[in-house]
Amino acid sequence: MQRRQFLSKSAAATFGFQVVASHVVRAQDGKPSPNSKIRIGAIGCGGRGEANLDGMKDEAIVALCDVDERRAAGARKKFPDAKTFVDYRAMFAEMGDQIDAVLVATPDHTHAVAVHAAIEKGKHVYCEKPLAKSIAEVRSMRQAALEKKVITQVGNQGHSSDHIRLFCEMVWSGAIGEVTEVHAGCDAFKNVYCQIDKIGDFTQQHEIPAGLDWQQWLGPLPDRPYHPHYLPFNWRGYSAYGSGCIGDWVCHVLDPTFWALDLAMPTAITAEVQGYDPMIHAEFYPAGTRITFEFAATEKNGPIKIIWHDGEESIPRPKELEEGRNPVRTGAVVHGTEGVIMHGSHGAGGCRLIPEARMKAFERPEQKIPRVPGGHHQKDWLTAIREGRQAGSNFEYGGALSEIGLLAMIAIRRPGKRLEWDAQAMQFKNDALANTLIKPVYRAGWA
Ligand SMILES: NC(=O)c1ccc[n+]([C@@H]2O[C@H](COP(=O)([O-])OP(=O)(O)OC[C@H]3O[C@@H](n4cnc5c(N)ncnc54)[C@H](O)[C@@H]3O)[C@@H](O)[C@H]2O)c1
Repeated sequence: MQRRQFLSKSAAATFGFQVVASHVVRAQDGKPSPNSKIRIGAIGCGGRGEANLDGMKDEAIVALCDVDERRAAGARKKFPDAKTFVDYRAMFAEMGDQIDAVLVATPDHTHAVAVHAAIEKGKHVYCEKPLAKSIAEVRSMRQAALEKKVITQVGNQGHSSDHIRLFCEMVWSGAIGEVTEVHAGCDAFKNVYCQIDKIGDFTQQHEIPAGLDWQQWLGPLPDRPYHPHYLPFNWRGYSAYGSGCIGDWVCHVLDPTFWALDLAMPTAITAEVQGYDPMIHAEFYPAGTRITFEFAATEKNGPIKIIWHDGEESIPRPKELEEGRNPVRTGAVVHGTEGVIMHGSHGAGGCRLIPEARMKAFERPEQKIPRVPGGHHQKDWLTAIREGRQAGSNFEYGGALSEIGLLAMIAIRRPGKRLEWDAQAMQFKNDALANTLIKPVYRAGWA
């Protein structure tokens, strides 16, 4: 089923509803009071969490939960009136009825448990991308959000940009004919995503730094010793916690194609890897990957191939690009039967037909998609809460997009094998081992 068909089938149940946080609609005339602020609790306040809080600072930031006081220091200084917590379960127990909406910006492996706790309490949720660390978690989060009718947003902020809208309108206007193949990828942070050189470094015990609750950082994952290699930032290169380059970037880089073509899930996926043996390196990610996703023909599109390149692998230079112009390194080249579009990351930044002569001759298409003022992704969610509509990259959309990266992470563990994916049944048709990687193993006490 195409994604849009799925959405329209469940639209009455999911998108037609009017849910507005009670706190926000308390004005006497029944309209949202312009002065009432949405009360936000944040889980994960350093790094991206702090940046998201900056985008929500006009609301009431009432609670800040973080397992590391050093990382939370910046947000705590900015929002001194917020109550602070180390365990989000304590935050909900104490302030459950004083929070309308929740930001989750922890590392990927704790998104699902934190988001579920928020949704169970009926809170609207903004969760960083990728929506979770595994496909089974993404599915259960999507389901929970539908059942509780909460307003959700995944943190692929380019989705609120003007560029992504222009890209869709260009494709829909027939600028490149029928899309047949997309080369996408990312060449950022190579030595963060590939940590294989650290393989011999895990023999010594390290003291847990003061102010860090390591068990709470691990959350649902089996216990393992703290190591300074993991924090901050580098956890994304360890397969237990982070989603590697593709998991981190697919929600930014493939968002334009996914939206414009209303893509369903791939039916087959094949990974080619560099410098990586899954029998030895399963804890890590490869130095380079080339991953081919095959999408079956639908009523709207013919069969489409998306080929992902990262690390030591680069997006091939399109022959349509003039000499002297730089090829895209983090972004995509979208090939159609009648032309090529090249764009960057985070919502098709710098979207152009190539060669430039084609772009110059091209008449900008009519605007079909309403713009998000200022391209402000956090405000899109906050406005959606006030208006009782879904946000642009809600869990149905952003979750499905995240699944593409999560499929790739499984394919990396089965290099060279063409895995056939049955999205509806949530299983691979031809690989029992790959099927064991769809759902994570949680330790006792976590579900
Ligand atoms: N949208 C974007 O452009 C973008 C950019 C960077 C990161 N991200 C995403 O944001 C998320 C966080 O990434 P980051 O780079 O900010 O990581 P980080 O490690 O720098 O920050 C994570 C924060 O969460 C806290 N934390 C960790 N576990 C926690 C828990 N169980 N409960 C409460 N707090 C916890 C940490 O102490 C830290 O303050 C990731 O999912 C990442 O993919 C998105």
